Amino acid sequence: MKVFAYGIRDDEKPALKDWESQNPEIEVDYTQELLTPETAKLAKGADSAVVYQQLDYTKETLEALAAAGVKNMSLRNVGTDNVDFDAAKELGMNISNVPVYSPNAIAEHSMIQLSRLLRRTKPMDNKVAKHDLRWAPTIGREMRMQTVGIIGTGNIGRKAINILKGFGAKVIAYDMFPNKELQEEGLYVDSLDELYAQADAISLYVPGVPANHHMINKDSIAKMKDGVVIVNCSRGNLVDIDAVIDGLNSGKVSDFAMDVYENEVGLFNEDWSGKEFPDPKIADLIARDNVLVTPHIAFYTTKAVDEMVHQSFDAAVSFAKGEKPSIAVDF
Ligand code: COI
Repeated sequence: MKVFAYGIRDDEKPALKDWESQNPEIEVDYTQELLTPETAKLAKGADSAVVYQQLDYTKETLEALAAAGVKNMSLRNVGTDNVDFDAAKELGMNISNVPVYSPNAIAEHSMIQLSRLLRRTKPMDNKVAKHDLRWAPTIGREMRMQTVGIIGTGNIGRKAINILKGFGAKVIAYDMFPNKELQEEGLYVDSLDELYAQADAISLYVPGVPANHHMINKDSIAKMKDGVVIVNCSRGNLVDIDAVIDGLNSGKVSDFAMDVYENEVGLFNEDWSGKEFPDPKIADLIARDNVLVTPHIAFYTTKAVDEMVHQSFDAAVSFAKGEKPSIAVDF
């Protein structure tokens, strides 16, 4: 039985080696290249492909993979918004993702970014680097004084809520599919509008499905408190970045942290040192004292990478054996 993996990064190799040592009967081959219509033929002869990428899995790409004889595809990440499931269905493909690799990784990063914004660490670090050790005017705000609105209370949102409770913040939440325990705790508000009206800070934990596209836009920002803090470590397309930039310019939005960006493919996880960014909006956002930009690293921890590799390869083998892994995507 053979598994072929695309887009293997150096930092994934220890986890892959570990998985291989636990599964010596499985032949594994891989490439650093991503899955495209052109690279699909590399998987010929394999029973399953393991993939990770932010490029779209288009009809053309999936057709090329199926034409190479591979109809099992296991994603090493959670997001499936870039998969053409209609095409996958037509081709009779099996697809899995890794829905729970380490919710803590993303929850922690988002709450670290929120704390950094509240305590204004970016301007303070910049001052210190210039040998300016004065306090004023870089005064911070305390987490326990904030009402934090959590949008989306799945695995990651719930971890973020636990972190916020530790800080003593007041938490309110909204989800179309409420969690029973949180409901019993009375954390939910009835609508997003209510959350926007009450929250001093808002953090997003919903998927980038079409229904959520640009949920943070000119109209929703207008409904938020003056000086609201916004954190997005979920998906870039949840936020209309122009509306946020307008909000930052007017002061309606006091601070913003983004780990994801609608146009991040080809921009994030690339080295731009000594070069101009191809996107002037990113250059503008990075230059601001009250904006934190990280290049889609919320997930990027040793634990998460290990789980992503192990769970996706296990699922690939399970598909190849004709079984349905517990993390198969139903579509
Ligand atoms: C995901 O798991 O979907 C992520 O956002 C992390 C990254 C591997 C794309």
